[in-house]
Amino acid sequence: MVNWTSRTSRWLLQCSLWSAVFWSVSGFDINRNDNLAVYWGQDSSGKQQQLSFYCQDDVYDMIPLAFLYVFFGIGGEPMIDFANICSSSANGVFPGTQLANCSFMAQDIQDCQNKGKVVTISLGGATGDVGFANSSQAKDFADTIWNQFLGGTSDIRPFGDAVLDGVDLDIEGGLPTFYGDFVNQLRSHTDNAKKQYYVTAAPQCPFPDANLGQVLNASRFDAVYVQFYNNYCGLNAPDQFDFSVWDEWARTASPNPDVKIFIGAPGSATAAGQGFVDIAQLQQYAMSAQATYDTFGGVMLWDASDAYDNNRYDKAIKTSMSANGREVSNPTSGSGNGGSGGGNTTSGGTSPTFPGSTSPGPSGSTCLVQQPLGEELLWSGGQIRTSADIRALFTSQSVRMMARQSRDVLKSFGEIARRRVSSLVLRDSTSTIVRPKYKLHRRVASL
Ligand SMILES: *[C@@H]1O[C@H](CO)[C@@H](O)[C@H](O)[C@H]1NC(C)=O
Ligand SMILES: *[C@@H]1O[C@H](CO)[C@@H](O)[C@H](O)[C@H]1NC(C)=O
Ligand SMILES: *[C@@H]1O[C@H](CO)[C@@H](O)[C@H](O)[C@H]1NC(C)=O
Ligand SMILES: *[C@@H]1O[C@H](CO)[C@@H](O)[C@H](O)[C@H]1NC(C)=O
Repeated sequence: MVNWTSRTSRWLLQCSLWSAVFWSVSGFDINRNDNLAVYWGQDSSGKQQQLSFYCQDDVYDMIPLAFLYVFFGIGGEPMIDFANICSSSANGVFPGTQLANCSFMAQDIQDCQNKGKVVTISLGGATGDVGFANSSQAKDFADTIWNQFLGGTSDIRPFGDAVLDGVDLDIEGGLPTFYGDFVNQLRSHTDNAKKQYYVTAAPQCPFPDANLGQVLNASRFDAVYVQFYNNYCGLNAPDQFDFSVWDEWARTASPNPDVKIFIGAPGSATAAGQGFVDIAQLQQYAMSAQATYDTFGGVMLWDASDAYDNNRYDKAIKTSMSANGREVSNPTSGSGNGGSGGGNTTSGGTSPTFPGSTSPGPSGSTCLVQQPLGEELLWSGGQIRTSADIRALFTSQSVRMMARQSRDVLKSFGEIARRRVSSLVLRDSTSTIVRPKYKLHRRVASL
């Protein structure tokens, strides 16, 4: 727990036209509806470049590395493969395993992360040898993933000192059982970490997904990249394409009421058996979903090599989404800020408001201005030292605080700081989300 009285950080509050505040520790914001997730690793086009090549511009937001395709290989360790960039055969393995040593990719990964992109390890794939025999094996595997790829420690770190931002489940075979145990165990690590981690899944469009349906109903996901291709319900079949099924799941069944649904699309005509549509059609789908569904989070493309070489299909869809992009709260949570998957929110788990901030008050025109770290937090001439002070600020401004990340564990502002929430949005009493203006570029946890 954060002890505010020991803070040396100084923030200055200053008036402006802005009635709300946005703090972010990275460029990435899971609550926007214009994020682009692009799979990298399987060299779908045959011209795959190294990872950092695709991070040169602002086009990609989330990059699942595809794939960790064997859960329990030789020596009981997983196997990863990134085609022409890193593989067991070309790059050497950790002793006694067939797990490729891709630690030369650490800098590439960090380059992408430093540009605000989220880089995750994707488990599975179409040819994956995956699945669990029982609950304890699933939990142990979560520990392995945590130690080898995320914030844990292990002699085996396939990406060296790079710490990935989370896990994607692209499970397309094996038994659907025990993935809930896997994700929940993984969350037990990530929820206690200072870094923000993301868990995503890539089900196919027929609902419910045969492989991921169970875990989607059982665990908290931040985003779901629905594969609207290679199926009757793909983008190429407008009569069958149905985003609303996934929207309804997100609103009514997902343990994380803020889960974002992405439209997954092939990046080129050859990227998938069927489902590819020209860019104008994809833009139409995305902009329609953006306008219609609060659960829409953006577009997912398979894969980077295809999309990049297809006349920058990736950039074209990102640009059109960004034109109308904004932060959106899901309807379930917009009126409920419900704890995602257990745990308490700021005010007992049901209210969207910070304690005491519901009653209408003078319309605030005050906003926080980021000051260099190492100074104190000031507001209206008074110091803000405790979370109660911050609650008072919120009350006086009659803003509704929407802690859009990790809301299930937010109990106080101290909690927010401790968990390094990546995005904290304040709303005015009319529920209008105010555009982000100020960003905290350094870790809240380092305050
Ligand atoms: C992995 O590769 C790096 C160089 O990329 C090397 O320094 C390291 O020793 C290798 N680790 C093992 C266990 O072979
Ligand atoms: C779980 O499955 C693994 C792999 O088959 C096995 O080694 C282990 O004994 C099982 N554990 C339990 C508790 O059944
Ligand atoms: C998940 O929950 C939804 C809504 O209750 C249900 O329609 C769906 O069948 C469930 N999925 C599985 C795999 O049970
Ligand atoms: C959630 O908050 C309520 C009301 O403050 C409290 O009674 C309950 O014990 C809390 N639950 C957890 C899991 O912290």
